[in-house]
Amino acid sequence: MKLTLSVIKADIGSIGGHIQPSHELFQSVREHLAAHGRKLIVDSYLSYTGDDIAILMTHSHGSGDPAVHRLAWDAFVAGTSVAKAQGLYGAGQDLLKDAFSGNVKGMGPAVAEMTIDERPNEPFLFFAADKTDPGAFNLPLYLAFADPMNTPGLILSPKMSKGFRFVIMDVSHAEADRVIELNAPEESYDIAALLRDAERFVVESVWSRASGEQAAAVATSRLHNIAGKYTGKDDPVMLVRTQMNFPATGEVLAPYATAHFVAGGMRGSHNMPLMPVCLNTGTSYFDGPPLVSCAGFAMHEGKLTEPVDCFAHPFWDSVRARAADKSMEMRRQGFFGAAMLPMSELEYTGITEKLAALEGRFTTRAEAGVERAAA
Ligand code: F6R
Ligand code: MG
Ligand code: MG
Repeated sequence: MKLTLSVIKADIGSIGGHIQPSHELFQSVREHLAAHGRKLIVDSYLSYTGDDIAILMTHSHGSGDPAVHRLAWDAFVAGTSVAKAQGLYGAGQDLLKDAFSGNVKGMGPAVAEMTIDERPNEPFLFFAADKTDPGAFNLPLYLAFADPMNTPGLILSPKMSKGFRFVIMDVSHAEADRVIELNAPEESYDIAALLRDAERFVVESVWSRASGEQAAAVATSRLHNIAGKYTGKDDPVMLVRTQMNFPATGEVLAPYATAHFVAGGMRGSHNMPLMPVCLNTGTSYFDGPPLVSCAGFAMHEGKLTEPVDCFAHPFWDSVRARAADKSMEMRRQGFFGAAMLPMSELEYTGITEKLAALEGRFTTRAEAGVERAAA
């Protein structure tokens, strides 16, 4: 059966700053979906990660379907009025356009979608991250789909030995989607050379070279490309199918044990480690650390099972403790060096303005040689 998985997420307001949505807001989005989605979608699941609400929908209308996108947009619009009525911070902040125009891409919300031939059993993972951007998934995807040190399936399973095709987007190119397709393992050095620069080159999708099936879909939107300036971080969502022709669930989850440093903590302007957290976890220390949650599902003809909270297992407690230590270690150096993002990625204009104001106060000393000659 051909099925589409669509995840659409937005930050439409939260309690106590950028911490987490209110219960009433979350419920209003859920109620809108229940009231208006019945005929359109097969099933849905709602979660929040930090201050972002993500809607996962299964349906048969294909990727980019205007009615499905409108359902999510309207649910976020309905939520926004609740957020405003409750005085939540950043009410409606990710809804950057006034009127819906057929597809939420380019309107603020993040989207990850894939249309698949549903397997007789269809395990997949739905990731959502807050206080970071789509490049946060570069390293875990590289490790899961291109590195046999992480994924033994790449050498053990004949179904995976042909490797995977990475579609990578240059997100600095605002005018249009600029993408490149590269094959692992032959071009894995090229893939690594791009993915290292996670603020510019972002994995958009991954495909099995053995079967041609799509394995992963990542939201790649950069809000400042839409609004022309920073309006918040591009907290990303991702779908990954697992098992059979794809890496095992554990091979996809294992890279998160690194708690690697990603862009986006505090004011969207700091490098902090990515902490794997339980579903529906808010944000805390230093508006972070950046969080990632993961819901595992099985599905039959689009009907979802209950989610398994993949990072709730006791194993992840020690990873969380290490991520907290790494966060505090990085915070010891305040705004110096690697702690704060480069100028091009800062979410605020304060430093640029300060430097511009100081520009006229710089003086250029005469060259020592010239001074000597004059003396
Ligand atoms: C991401 C997030 C942060 C804020 C940033 C700006 O979810 O919450 O990246 O966008 O901290 O905060 P304000 O709007 O208070 O300047
Ligand atoms: Mg936010
Ligand atoms: Mg957020």
